[in-house]
Amino acid sequence: MQAMEWTGHSLRLLDQTKLPVTITWVECQSYQDVALAIRQMIVRGAPAIGAAAAYGLVLAAQTSTTVDPAASRENMASAAAALRATRPTAVNLAWAIGRMLAAGEGLAGLALAARLEQEANAIAAEDIEINRALGRFGAKLVPNPARILTHCNAGALATVGYGTALGVIRAAVEQGKQVEVFADETRPYLQGSRLTTFELMQDDIPVTLLTDSMAGWLMAKGRVDLVIVGADRVAANGDVANKIGTYTLAVLAKEHQVPFYVACPLSTLDLSIKSGEEIIIEEREASEVTHVGRTRLAPEATRVWNPAFDVTPERLVTALITEKGVIYPPFMSALEALL
Ligand code: MRU
Repeated sequence: MQAMEWTGHSLRLLDQTKLPVTITWVECQSYQDVALAIRQMIVRGAPAIGAAAAYGLVLAAQTSTTVDPAASRENMASAAAALRATRPTAVNLAWAIGRMLAAGEGLAGLALAARLEQEANAIAAEDIEINRALGRFGAKLVPNPARILTHCNAGALATVGYGTALGVIRAAVEQGKQVEVFADETRPYLQGSRLTTFELMQDDIPVTLLTDSMAGWLMAKGRVDLVIVGADRVAANGDVANKIGTYTLAVLAKEHQVPFYVACPLSTLDLSIKSGEEIIIEEREASEVTHVGRTRLAPEATRVWNPAFDVTPERLVTALITEKGVIYPPFMSALEALL
């Protein structure tokens, strides 16, 4: 399963707003198209939006007519700003954009476009390798058999391929382990019911869907061996921003002595911030809560709070699973040593 495809002159994105009912691709021919696709969540998931933004900058370079490095630098800076402004929480977006701008520094015209295409392809290829490495480390933490609870979608659809949290599950299955997955529905955007179930079913990995509010009772019944989630930004102290509802799961996991693992490539670490308090949490439109699809469930004009992410304090995290290995608390010193 693949969320994106680079054609050499456009970025094709699997439209995740329509899955699993309809499989359609959206073709982006400019960085503005890519920015809109990220904002509308046609492409979503921290590593995937980073890679998509990288290709957005390739499109900006390909469509630019200037051969003057200074003018080109300005063009790239404004494309980068537009892409960066699409979603504030996942640090992979700013990370990928920063890496692309550094790669293109001092270049213009065809040379810039070629260099940026090479860098975006490298980001995409590395993402899959990173997820496989992270998956191998994480799979060692998965008992056999294992009942795993996950939240949102941190799979192939949220990355360039293979996935982070679902990458760990895939690696465990590849090692011959017997795995059963419980997927939280993930209100309000339903990444769990629409995407995680779809992705795992395509791979014949047994998956059971539950609504978010059922997770506590499932743990209380002793039916969860571990929780694995992805991450959008991890602070220097190990606090984790991830899809809204992650924090609740972590509290529940602690209460029931269930290990709570976070799969996070190093590009998800933001060591410039000390704790999760500094993470900007995206708030999305009310209609995601008041409506399911086009059907309104709440009274008209209902006041709504719709944060797309929450922050799980590091004390609730059993370990961070990265492509360089598994990190245990205290995270601050462990991360410094790792990097
Ligand atoms: O709003 P989304 O769907 O982009 O949120 C996605 C998540 O929260 C994922 O868990 C996270 O980005 C990790 S994806 C490998």
